[in-house]
Amino acid sequence: MRQLLDVPAPAKLNLFLHITGRRADGYHLLQSVFMLIDWCDTLHFERRAGGAISREDIGGSGPALPANDLVVRAAQALQRASGCEWGAHIALDKQIPQEAGMGGGSSDAASCLLALNRLWGLDLPLEQLLQIGLQLGADVPFFLGGDNAWVEGIGEQLTPVTLPAGNFIVLKPPTGASTPKIFQSPALKRDSLCSTMRDFVASASVFNYGHNDLQPVAINLCPDIKIGLDWLKNQNLSGTMTGSGSALFAPTSQASKVDITTLPPGWIARSCKNLFEHPLKQWRK
Ligand code: C5P
Repeated sequence: MRQLLDVPAPAKLNLFLHITGRRADGYHLLQSVFMLIDWCDTLHFERRAGGAISREDIGGSGPALPANDLVVRAAQALQRASGCEWGAHIALDKQIPQEAGMGGGSSDAASCLLALNRLWGLDLPLEQLLQIGLQLGADVPFFLGGDNAWVEGIGEQLTPVTLPAGNFIVLKPPTGASTPKIFQSPALKRDSLCSTMRDFVASASVFNYGHNDLQPVAINLCPDIKIGLDWLKNQNLSGTMTGSGSALFAPTSQASKVDITTLPPGWIARSCKNLFEHPLKQWRK
């Protein structure tokens, strides 16, 4: 009998991102709130005998992914950690823009770990999936965690946070900037003062709290980011970059109509709502 699973992988927005230090291994200490939104990739899994992991891209947007992308590496890491002899064919419907700071690759990897843990009958506990996930990328643990979160450390210290419902316009320029290049820039401010979750929760508008320390460096590497921020300002919206960009977002009121016809060619824009929890949250053990 064929064993199949279809699963969503939602994107995230960083409401703010403060860099508070740097570890000896070069990774940065940060404080951020990661928020899930209803812009999703979809992954289809078919269990296969023989141990091989294969991936195809169906539909979707953006350039083709490398054969050994994070989804394939997540499946292989799960095989290694569990000694599982099953394989899988994975079809990925990529909708979340790449090089956007929206966590698409990390979210795909997290959904892959949760799906194959189930499809292969492994029943590994969340704790073990989190360890595998962190080795794949600093944002993967957030997507495994299942909740909107106050995030510290390099991205692995998660505290669930309750957010109000919100509407957002999300913009992606046609160009992007490399995440490692942004983090490695000598111009990056790395000494933001530490905030507390209490300050964040008590702020007048949690969707406008703080700033993104990566944004000034990203603007230098990718001038489209400034064009997008100015475009949002012209719409009377207060925009911020998410993660290492180049996507931008701004909170909107439910009634407000944003005229996206004035965006330059090649830009993607979408109205999004936040999610209160990850759609696969119940799959964690
Ligand atoms: O872990 P991930 O692959 O998402 O990170 C991409 C790059 O971003 C890392 O190689 C590192 O240069 C940088 N990074 C960092 N500090 C973090 C997260 C990412 O320096 N907390």
